Amino acid sequence: MTGPESPGEKLRLAALASRLPEGRGGLLRWPEETDSTNSALKAWAQQGAPPGTVYLAEKQTAGRGRMGRSFASPPGGLYLSYLLRPEVPPEAVGEITAWTAVAVRRALERCCALSAEIKWVNDLLWQGKKLCGILCETVLRRGRVESLVLGIGINVDAAEEDFPAGLRGIAASLRTAGVTVPDRAALAAEVIRSLDETAADFPRAGEAYWKEYRAFCVTLGREVTLSDGSAAFAEDLERDFSLRLRLPDGGMRLLRSGEATLHKED
Ligand code: BTN
Repeated sequence: MTGPESPGEKLRLAALASRLPEGRGGLLRWPEETDSTNSALKAWAQQGAPPGTVYLAEKQTAGRGRMGRSFASPPGGLYLSYLLRPEVPPEAVGEITAWTAVAVRRALERCCALSAEIKWVNDLLWQGKKLCGILCETVLRRGRVESLVLGIGINVDAAEEDFPAGLRGIAASLRTAGVTVPDRAALAAEVIRSLDETAADFPRAGEAYWKEYRAFCVTLGREVTLSDGSAAFAEDLERDFSLRLRLPDGGMRLLRSGEATLHKED
C-alpha cells in the first residue's frame, strides 16, 4: 500500500466517488504512481481489504501483462485493479478473465458508445488494434481461493505517436478510435459499476456472459497461430470459454489458456 492520499489523489477520489452508488462498499485508492496496481491491490488484500476494493494509478512503473510480459503504462491511460473474494473452488476461477472482458466491454459501450471486439482470451480491440489488456491473478491459501485481482489497462488518451515504436500500428486508444474521451473518473466509475455487476453474477450467470463473449469474439472462425508457432483454425468457444481448435491434420484441440494470435491477412 502506498502512503497517505496526496491532494491530487483526494481530488481524483472525490470525482470518482461522486459517480459511484452511495455505500457500494469496498475501498478506493488512486495515487499518482505505483509499480503495478495488481501488486498494490494484492498487498492490500493481504491486509484484509474487502471485496469491491479498487486500486487505480495515474501511471505504473512496472505494469504487468500476461505471460510475464510488461505492460506500458504512461500517464493518460486507465490502470485499475478490482478485488473479488468469490466463494468458489480454484478450478472455477479460470473463466473470470473472459467475464472481465465482457464487463469492460459493456462499460466502454455505456460510457463511450464504443463497441469493442474481444480477442480470445483477454484483449479488447478496436478495429483489430489492442485497446485494453486484462490480467486476472488468483491468490490461493491452503488450496482455497483467498482473492482474485482483476487488472485492467485501457489506452485512453494516447495519440498514435505516443505509443512506443513496437506498438505503433497495433495499439489503439479511445482517442485514436475517435471517441470523445470522457473524463477518466467517469470511465473508471463505469468500469467499476460493471465489475460490481459481474462480482454479483459470478459464477452463476455464466450463460449470459458466454453468449455475449461469443458474439463479440473476433478470434472465432479465423486462422490463428499458437504459442508454439503452430497454426490452427479457431472453430468455436466451449461453455467454459476454452477455444475449440481444428488442427491442420483434422484433429481437434481445446485451448484453456495461452495465446491464439490472429493472422494478419484475415
Ligand atoms: C496483457 O495485455 O497482457 C494484460 C495487461 C494488463 C494490464 C493491467 S494495467 C492494471 C493492472 N496492473 C498491472 O500491473 N497489470 C494490469
